[in-house]
Formats: sequence, C-alpha cells, structure tokens
Amino acid sequence: MGFKALCLGLLFVSFLSYIYTPMPDNIEESWKLMTLDAIAKTLNIMAECLEIIGVMRYEDFISMIISLDHTPPYSDEHITVTDTAFVDIPARLYLPKKKSKSPRRAVIYFHGGGFCFGSCKQRAFDFLNRWTAKELDAVVVAIDYRLAPQHHFPAQFEDGVTAVKFFLQDKILSKYGVDPTRIAVSGDSSGGTLTAAVTQQVHNDPEIKHKFKLQALLYPALQVVDSYSPSHQENEHGIILTRDIAIKLVSLFYSKDDALRQAIKKNQHMPLESRHLFKFVNWSILLPEKFRKDHVYTEPVLGRSAVSLPALMDHRALPLIANDTYLQHLPRTYILTCQYDVLRDDGIMYASRLQNVGVQVEHDHVEDGIHGALSYMTSPFHLHLGLRIRDMYVSWLDKNL
Ligand SMILES: *[C@@H]1O[C@H](CO)[C@@H](O)[C@H](O)[C@H]1NC(C)=O
Ligand SMILES: *[C@@H]1O[C@H](CO)[C@@H](O)[C@H](O)[C@H]1NC(C)=O
Repeated sequence: MGFKALCLGLLFVSFLSYIYTPMPDNIEESWKLMTLDAIAKTLNIMAECLEIIGVMRYEDFISMIISLDHTPPYSDEHITVTDTAFVDIPARLYLPKKKSKSPRRAVIYFHGGGFCFGSCKQRAFDFLNRWTAKELDAVVVAIDYRLAPQHHFPAQFEDGVTAVKFFLQDKILSKYGVDPTRIAVSGDSSGGTLTAAVTQQVHNDPEIKHKFKLQALLYPALQVVDSYSPSHQENEHGIILTRDIAIKLVSLFYSKDDALRQAIKKNQHMPLESRHLFKFVNWSILLPEKFRKDHVYTEPVLGRSAVSLPALMDHRALPLIANDTYLQHLPRTYILTCQYDVLRDDGIMYASRLQNVGVQVEHDHVEDGIHGALSYMTSPFHLHLGLRIRDMYVSWLDKNL
C-alpha cells in the first residue's frame, strides 16, 4: 500500500512537472498538447521504472498501452475493411464499395511507432487509411511488419518487401481492381523509413515489373549516422518525442545491447570504416541555411564504440546513406517535416539528396508541427495539427497519383 501510494505520488509529481513545460509560441491548442506531452512522458517514466524494478520490459508496457487503442476491421457505407495476410504478413485492406468503370488507384501504408510499437489497427491509422480510401476512391492496404526488439533489423524491411512484392503481382492487382501504373507507398516516422527503404529496393530491382508512381514520407526517420544534427540539438527535450526516447527506440531496432544506445547518445557509435558515408548526412551541406542557423558542424567521432554493427552502414535501415546511383531511380516523392521534431533534418536532407540527383520532390515543412501528429486524430486526443497534416498528405496524393 505504502509503495503503491509512493509510486502514484511520484507519477503525479512527474505529470505536474511536465505539464508546466512551456510550449513554443506558435503551437496551437497548447494546453491540449501540454497535457498530451505530460501523459506521454509520464508513461515513459512509468515504463522505465517498471523495467528497472523488473516487473516488465519497457517496450512491453508501452505496447500494452497502445494496444488498448486497436480497433477491429469494421466496414462503413463507403468502404469494406478486412484483415488479411500478404504471404504471412498481416495486412488491413480498404476497398471502396462503389462500382468503378476503370481500375482504381492504390496506396500502401506503413505505420510509425519507432519500429518497436504500433499497428495499422490503431484507431488513428485506421482512420487515416479509411479516409484516404474514401477521399481518393482508392484501394488502401496497411501492412503490419514484425516489431523490435523481438525482431531486429532486417525483419521489418524483409516484411515490407515481401508484402509489397506480393501486392504488386498482376493477379493480385487485378483481383482488387488496381491500376498498376497508379500505386503509391506512404508511411510516417519509422513507417517512413520503411517506405523509403522499400521504394529504393523496388525501384532498383529489375525483376519487379510494376513500380510505384509516388512515395510519401511523413516526418520520416532516415539515418542514425549523425545523432547530433541541428534538429537533435534543438529538440533534445522535444514535445512527446525526446532525443533520449528516439535513441532508445532506434537502438532497440538494431540490438539489445545497451552499449549501443550509450554510444549513439554520445554520437560515437559509427565504426572507422564508415567515414565515406558521412558526406551523405553532412548537414552543413545538405540543410538549407534556415535550418542550419548558427549551429557549428562537428564530425561524429568514429571507431570509439565497442559495438560494431554492419547494419549501421546499411541503406536498407538508413535510406539517407544510399549512394546517388541508387537514388536516381526513385519515383516522385513527397516529404513532410515538422519543426519541433528531433528527426526533422533527416527528411530535409533526403529532399536535398533526391533533388540533387534529379528526382522530383515536393517538401512541405510544418512550422508548428510536432513528431507523430498523425497519431492524434481521434478522440480524446485529437489535434487540429493531425488533421491538417492528413489533409496536406491526402491532397498531394489526390493531385499526383
Ligand atoms: C562536411 O561539410 C563541410 C563543409 O561545410 C566540410 O568542411 C567537411 O569536410 C564535410 N565533412 C564530411 C565528412 O563530408
Ligand atoms: C551504390 O549502391 C548500390 C546498392 O548498395 C551498389 O550495388 C552499387 O555498387 C553502389 N554504386 C556505387 C557507384 O557506389
């Protein structure tokens, strides 16, 4: 009893301390966001405490909370929704009910969640994909790839490629009435990582006949090579997603070894032989002046970490480090970045790299945006910001697909 009261007391104090964290001036619905931020950070502390006292693992606790928000596949008057599997990868399918004279457009969606959490069954993603299907009169498929740390990289990438290859077969496209020349792939956050990596794979594999017409990357994570870019520095204690949480999740994607997390925090995790990759993430060249501001570029320290993982140099995990030849073949791209996001610079640098090799890119930067805003579109946590980002994304698809 005494212990429980103490824990509750501590959580309450933690909640209060977070709720008084001031928000930037241009943030709308600042009280709502402050509350959300305080809840998210308090849950994070709770998860860390439970792990330390040995009750359950950090990621199991957060997953449990998120799974409370799953919704079954229910159809409405416009869309038939079903859960299915592509090969053995779970997928949720949204098919418009209205008869169509011609084949339809299609969108494949990868959800975010730091590679450790989340599902396309979460209410916010279900809402987004249902909305996309209805607004575009398109077939939408959402893919549930395996999660870390039970499954490390490259399981997520492999699931993404397997599911996409399955869907892009002639017989499957015709079964769902999809036009093979009008298919897009999209994802947010770590789903954006997967989208970028899978698109690189599809567009560089001559064996895959049907390619994507578009890719859309919504506040994507695209590199961990340099963990101290200006957005890392400015958003170290960021709203909902702090630099510490981002690094914790990304290190779990690669390995259970906590030494990796410590090394990434110090920006000393890359092996000596990775030096040639730094030009691909050199923010002093790839970021426009507006984002560089007065930050001074220092090269990360190489060869200090005891953990040396080949995956840290693999463009299937870090799409930003693919070489120019590999990027040249990519389809027209939409990149949305948010100002108050530790991962902001990843998306901006990818936009620069794609533009440099002649890929058509449209980059929208949301000046009052926060990471993960699309996860806050359903009650009781809905933000106008989430709906605004949804509308930017869906209208770009509608115009270009
Ligand atoms: C990064 O860019 C700066 C120029 O802004 C240059 O001096 C430095 O050598 C570059 N570093 C790498 C590793 O490419
Ligand atoms: C570019 O990357 C691809 C994929 O990793 C690789 O096969 C190719 O050899 C690289 N090309 C150059 C010029 O480095």
